[in-house]
Amino acid sequence: MNTEQLTVPSVEAIPILPRLNLLRKPCAVDILHLESIHPVLSGNKWYKLKYNLAAAQQQGFDSLLSCGGPHSNHLHALACAGQVLGFKTTAFVRGYEHLPLTPTLIDCQRMGMSLIFLDKQTYKLRYDPQWCRQQAEQYSSYWIAEGGDNELGHKGCEELAEYCQGYDEVWLSVGSGCTFLGLADGLKKIAESSSQANQKNQPIIRGFLAIKGGEALAVELLEKVGGDHRINTESHLGGFGKCPESLIYLIQEYDEQGLHLDPVYTAKMIMAFEQRWQAGLLDQSKRYLLIHTGGLQGRRGVSSLSANVP
Ligand SMILES: Cc1ncc(COP(=O)(O)O)c(C=O)c1O
Repeated sequence: MNTEQLTVPSVEAIPILPRLNLLRKPCAVDILHLESIHPVLSGNKWYKLKYNLAAAQQQGFDSLLSCGGPHSNHLHALACAGQVLGFKTTAFVRGYEHLPLTPTLIDCQRMGMSLIFLDKQTYKLRYDPQWCRQQAEQYSSYWIAEGGDNELGHKGCEELAEYCQGYDEVWLSVGSGCTFLGLADGLKKIAESSSQANQKNQPIIRGFLAIKGGEALAVELLEKVGGDHRINTESHLGGFGKCPESLIYLIQEYDEQGLHLDPVYTAKMIMAFEQRWQAGLLDQSKRYLLIHTGGLQGRRGVSSLSANVP
């Protein structure tokens, strides 16, 4: 596969804002930069897509079919993958036709993706496996579930576990939970193949749900992973895609420190991190890793952030 522009994610100490530094002694907090592994095909999206792309190639497909909303990071990355790897791409987009195209959808089209707009009722069928199979047949395409949330997406996210070694806690944002589950399984596999000491040393994952009303999803995910991992359901700031002034202010402050955040996922997790820092709830003896899951193109959906999209 021609993925020459992809790089291994870097890890850095998180820039501690001056106002936070005054409050507490610094803790060991690093950030895993998945947002910068590729100019477009970045974040957790690459990990969710990589095995799907390989499977599509192996099965002889020359086109990919998926679905998403008008600001979808997944569709943006998929369109790029199609362009780089030579697949045709088609996407079902949630009820949109009468509105001007978002910057995300304009990019998708420029990268060669065909867009098919579905009303909200029809779009709900994306959870029906039979409907998905029919669409894949009709479009002679390899079907990838919304957000890349499928078995092969999960498998790709297992690979994130190797970057989490040596930390006590790993924090990340949660949408569907595919990345959380994949990472948890990756950690479990490393533990199972390690010495007894290393088994004990695997980090705990703290997920922060970006959606409102995700309590049932959190319970379901935690039941699947077992162990001491946790999911916070109260840091969504009003729900998926909601971006209050306080979040915009935080993003702009981190911009000044050279750390660019997306408003839908990682910024909300970083806000939760700050609140715990300010409240003295971080443990000075622990090592923390925060995962930046990408999605910077989504800043264009928020007018006050759209002028500064890295
Ligand atoms: C930038 C970004 N971060 C985090 C997530 C959440 O990932 P998941 O749906 O695997 O929980 C998504 C959605 O895929 C995303 O686009």
